[in-house]
Amino acid sequence: MTIKEIKNIFIDYFKEKNHQVIKSASLIPENDPSVLFTTAGMHPLVPYLLGEKHPAGKRLVNVQKCLRTADIDEVGDESHLTFFEMLGNWSLGDYFKNEAIEMSYDLLVNHLHINPQRLVVTVFAGDDAVPSDNETYEIWKKIGLTDDKIFFCDREHNWWGPVGLTGPCGPDTEIFYDTLKSKCSDQCGPTCNCGKYIEIWNNVFMEYNKLADGTYALLKQKNVDTGMGVERILLAVNDCHSVYNTEAFKSIIEKIEALANKKYGGTYDRAFRIVADHIKAATFILGDERAITPSNTDQGYILRRLIRRACRYLMQLEITQEAIGDIALIIINQYGEYYPELINQKDFIIDELIKEARAFNKTLSRGLKEFNKIIENNKNIETLTGDIAFRLYDTYGFPLEMTIELCKEKNIKVDIEGFHARFKQHQELSRVGAEKKFRGGLADNSEETTKLHTATHLLHATLRKVLGNTVYQRGSNINSERLRFDFSFDRKLTPEEIAEVETLVNRAIEQKLDVIVEEKSLTEAKQDESLIGLFAERYGEVVKIYRIGDFSAEICGGPHVKNTSELGKFKIIKEESSSAGVRRIKAILE
Ligand code: SER
Repeated sequence: MTIKEIKNIFIDYFKEKNHQVIKSASLIPENDPSVLFTTAGMHPLVPYLLGEKHPAGKRLVNVQKCLRTADIDEVGDESHLTFFEMLGNWSLGDYFKNEAIEMSYDLLVNHLHINPQRLVVTVFAGDDAVPSDNETYEIWKKIGLTDDKIFFCDREHNWWGPVGLTGPCGPDTEIFYDTLKSKCSDQCGPTCNCGKYIEIWNNVFMEYNKLADGTYALLKQKNVDTGMGVERILLAVNDCHSVYNTEAFKSIIEKIEALANKKYGGTYDRAFRIVADHIKAATFILGDERAITPSNTDQGYILRRLIRRACRYLMQLEITQEAIGDIALIIINQYGEYYPELINQKDFIIDELIKEARAFNKTLSRGLKEFNKIIENNKNIETLTGDIAFRLYDTYGFPLEMTIELCKEKNIKVDIEGFHARFKQHQELSRVGAEKKFRGGLADNSEETTKLHTATHLLHATLRKVLGNTVYQRGSNINSERLRFDFSFDRKLTPEEIAEVETLVNRAIEQKLDVIVEEKSLTEAKQDESLIGLFAERYGEVVKIYRIGDFSAEICGGPHVKNTSELGKFKIIKEESSSAGVRRIKAILE
């Protein structure tokens, strides 16, 4: 069966049972800071599971794009994935255990034609907080499962949610596919990780709400939340032994084979899988309707990690980093029918992937050489110091996790705490450095240069008001006699424009505006679009913002006067070209 057939069978089955089809939500959760990505189909439905009325009704079904990063380092084996698609059906206070389980079984056995003998299930065994789910056990018995196919398990295995710290959750019953591999031990069962049993479908009975104090309250309504991984059910229906052997990865693996001139199914399998999975995940993050780009924080950092880790294995496969775009194109074409956002953002996805890969590639081989040299020079090294891990991060762009992975391959530990301590120290230094660097534009901290520095802020803000927001600072140099300010603009200013700039700056001076300084985290500052002067990489985690009345708000290290009334009269003495697309103004205070 193909992915398309399976999706259609699933959706049609639940439509037939009066479910409404809802759209896959963004991979980046909206208004939810508790997780970085959408990890399950129920995630965007939390308000409705809590009792709010869903506009589409009480029975819903969909295919949701999901990303889970908890096991990112496990990707490379036969079953772990970061990105996957989840088939799900929901009852929002409508049907409950009986109907949900009957439908799951009917769909698996009678519509997807899975041999019922290959199915085993788990049921919540109960604990101090919530009793054993005997009702579910009885339902499975009624359907015809024998006791040897039903396993009672603890909260770790048979309780789902909440997604963050609080919210809807409940006991679940999980359906597993028996691959018929032999048992790894006498204890081997569905919760064992040996690969004999693969979880294909989870039915969660969400009737609890976990509260902030850790207790469970009953929800207003009894909900059902189910999730079945497309890649896993594909494996079961077609009896493949790995998700990477299914249609979900076939054309991607073939492309990698062609680029590497190597066959999948041998020594390079791990690299093949990491490249395939990570580029798929990165493609979906960049191609999301709320797309983000690689960075050093939050989702951007995960994206960066995915791309960089993929790059490392592309290198192992002897594939050029630019080929990352060719692989992404296969993914875009494969999934575009269901996720048109990928097609719409095709060029952006490919450009960003190649840009990040190129940037990383520049230092990757040097970094790996350096890493190998360190290991060779320290023959019996057991633990890599935080300093070295930090150097690999700072100089060669190695995410900490990559260094840990490289070390793990050589049985070396990494001083993670030491790394973080070094990292913190560096942030502090770069904050001080950024302030110093900014002052680098100032010859000294005399009264005159301080005044001219504040005048420079007024000039910067005024130029943007008069000439538009494409104007931004390209350079600044101040001595006790004059300021010199370089800014992006592609033509000579007219005499009228120069006069208007002077007038506006002088008006701000006459208005006796207070100059106020505040501190903000870099992340907060980046979100504030009214701020100017952000030279991204030059600042530490905390930045200073100088506000001059409502006239100007600029990130800067200072120093500045307290009130614009201290400045005197502003006069432009020269306007000239500095370089292509950059103009230069020299001005004085009289
Ligand atoms: N939320 C449940 C899970 O992710 C069912 O979809 O397993």
